[in-house]
Amino acid sequence: VSLAALARDPSYGTPTYVYDLSAMAVEARELTAAFDTAPHLVAYAVKANSAGPVLRALFAEGCGADVVSGAELALALVAGIPPERVVFSGVAKTNQELDQAIATGPRGIGAIQVESVEEIGRVEARASAAGRVARVAVRVNPGLGLDALDTHAHIATGHDEAKFGVAKGDVATAVGLVNAGAHTELVGFSVHVGSQFKDTGAYLDAARALFAMVATLRAEEAKGLVFVDTGGGFGVDYGEGPVARPSEFVRAVRREQRALGLGDLALHVEPGRSLVAAHGVLLARAISSKARASGGGLPPRRWLMIDAGMNDLVRPALYQARHRIVELGARPGPRAAFRVVGPVCESSDDFGSHELADPPPDLVAILDAGAYGYTMASAYNGRPLPAEVFLEGGRVVDVRARGSIAHWVEERAGLTSSRSPSGA
Ligand SMILES: Cc1ncc(COP(=O)(O)O)c(C=O)c1O
Repeated sequence: VSLAALARDPSYGTPTYVYDLSAMAVEARELTAAFDTAPHLVAYAVKANSAGPVLRALFAEGCGADVVSGAELALALVAGIPPERVVFSGVAKTNQELDQAIATGPRGIGAIQVESVEEIGRVEARASAAGRVARVAVRVNPGLGLDALDTHAHIATGHDEAKFGVAKGDVATAVGLVNAGAHTELVGFSVHVGSQFKDTGAYLDAARALFAMVATLRAEEAKGLVFVDTGGGFGVDYGEGPVARPSEFVRAVRREQRALGLGDLALHVEPGRSLVAAHGVLLARAISSKARASGGGLPPRRWLMIDAGMNDLVRPALYQARHRIVELGARPGPRAAFRVVGPVCESSDDFGSHELADPPPDLVAILDAGAYGYTMASAYNGRPLPAEVFLEGGRVVDVRARGSIAHWVEERAGLTSSRSPSGA
């Protein structure tokens, strides 16, 4: 199916996300192959793209799930993932979410990845109340410098000022507490130091720091370990040049793991973006354009206003991220630079400057929008959530309808009671 045909078809329209499930499956397969026969878990970070067809495509390739909320946990289970293949990260898991993780399946989920010493006591109390033993991993914050992390500050998590993980100096206390708990069992250690790493440098630094710590602890306090988890963060090429493949990250980490004598432990990774980003686009329609003539000392400028905005894809506004934008049905002829902007009443609703056909096209695709796109979308400015279309082998196999304006109006006006006060 052609993207232009989808965008023109009134039953899909714009703005619409289109995902290639087959290509996502190939990503998962390539990454899994990098483990050879070694024990491993590719715990897909559900937050990157939580659509059911995407989850099912990745789970069918053997992926597990990394979840960060009770809702994502419930979704992963509904999508068919066995509880023991789920790990749960997050700095502020509620008691309700801990109960859910502890109660699911015969032994609870694979690991509750605790992010503070304080959380361990809460897990112990909830597991005790449930009469179960919770499997716990300690997420370590290795305290790498922000400069060393070499990514946007908003997606760097493994430094001393970040809220994430147990600080290096507190890990021994955390291990002691998990070991002392009658209802907690230490099964692993994890790190996740940031996202969109273009090379293996910072990722390997974090893995090395984790492995060195685990090698020491294992001799005494952490004898029953099952896994080490080096997190997600494999970058994608948003048009700025090639980045290391996820399989290269895994091969490099496995070498370090073996060098430190930890080759018998399962290696977990938590990729989100790298499995899905490049295999999703956001289709949009041009609403109008405007030109500012040169004069008054200002350079001439042209804007193209499209019907997708920061509420549909917030990454440019949130992280100064740049996505390539291409016209659908490109035609030969003159080209010009357009500042492509959305309809939302915010200056940051701006996708940057792009070379497009002149006169401007009526349809465009924003590329590499398969990760942190729809999952971060909102109804800001009364704009309904975009539609989603899922392709397999180039054919439409599933569709999620666009949100409804009428529903938004009714719900905001208080004419419908769509939610219980508890949010359940
Ligand atoms: C704990 C954890 N694991 C994995 C990921 C996935 O990261 P990425 O999409 O960069 O692979 C994230 C993303 O923020 C995360 O917080």
